[in-house]
Amino acid sequence: MRNKEIDLLVVSPSSNMYYLSNFTDEPGERLFMLLIPDKGDPEYLVPELYADQVNQQSHVENIRAWGDSDNPQRLLRSTLKKLEARNSKVAIDNTMWASFLLMLQGIIPNCNFVRASNIMSPLRRIKESNEISKMLEAGKLADEAFGEVSELSLKGMTELEIANQLEKEMLRRGGDQIAFETLVASGPNSALPHHRAGKREIREGDTVTFDFGCKVDGYCSDTSRTVICGKPSPKQEEVYQVVREAQEKAFQAVGPGVEALKIDREAREYITKAGYGENFVHRTGHGIGLDVHEEPYIVGGNSLHIEEGMTFSIEPGIYLQEDFGVRIEDIVLVNKDGGKRLNNSNRELQ
Ligand code: CO
Repeated sequence: MRNKEIDLLVVSPSSNMYYLSNFTDEPGERLFMLLIPDKGDPEYLVPELYADQVNQQSHVENIRAWGDSDNPQRLLRSTLKKLEARNSKVAIDNTMWASFLLMLQGIIPNCNFVRASNIMSPLRRIKESNEISKMLEAGKLADEAFGEVSELSLKGMTELEIANQLEKEMLRRGGDQIAFETLVASGPNSALPHHRAGKREIREGDTVTFDFGCKVDGYCSDTSRTVICGKPSPKQEEVYQVVREAQEKAFQAVGPGVEALKIDREAREYITKAGYGENFVHRTGHGIGLDVHEEPYIVGGNSLHIEEGMTFSIEPGIYLQEDFGVRIEDIVLVNKDGGKRLNNSNRELQ
């Protein structure tokens, strides 16, 4: 904060709140804030019904609670006064609800408001060993769940039934919760990168793409695999091998000091040379940790140098509209001499 001349960091319920204080909850309409000044102690403003919980679970000692019949704005005003926020540079949690930012702007109109990601992203994008071990576990649970589901005869099952099965297996093995809504896209639906599982029944010859992950102590996994129900057509086989090789090329490019855009380029150039450049309609990857999508983004134009301890997905895909699509995704940790995958489900065509 001092390096960036930020006087006050204001965090709302979010992954940042969990990262900094070991506590968070879903964002809601009640004022719930962690205020961290550059000097002095942090202050937690919490709804009274959370006071004991925050006290037991968070690292923060100063907890000010407000009751449902109190005016939380008054409490916020007195806290900001105590922290001497008047002409300060104030960093705001990127996902804070607009209503709370407007409240802050009303109380301290002369402050300069900036995004908290200025401070938080450089911290969060480098994972420490305790974070990595949780992500490894989350990846392992996803692998095991997929292993179980890929034994099923998919024919006749609906996308939703398969998605529910995958989720159940991840949770049964110890995931805290799923990391995001599980995607199962079959047949022509697999040509839609973010198709949600629906009621379509799997038929012989369908391509089926799965995109799934769970959380362990808040840390996410995120895996995509594509299988064929029955015998693949030559076209399915060809497209699959192009994606498989593009994913491997991008993975091989990972190492400390490499620009993020270079990893994207490896996958994209391979797919383009194979004639499918226009069908690869998204970035190659995204950082992952407490959030499923966070920095660093593996995308053209991002000249950020990858560092040891970063974790991100590599997930090229080819989508042929009204026909089928293929995506293969792994989470990769940057080590001192390259990349290490945190999930290892079979990547060969099944
Ligand atoms: Co992903």
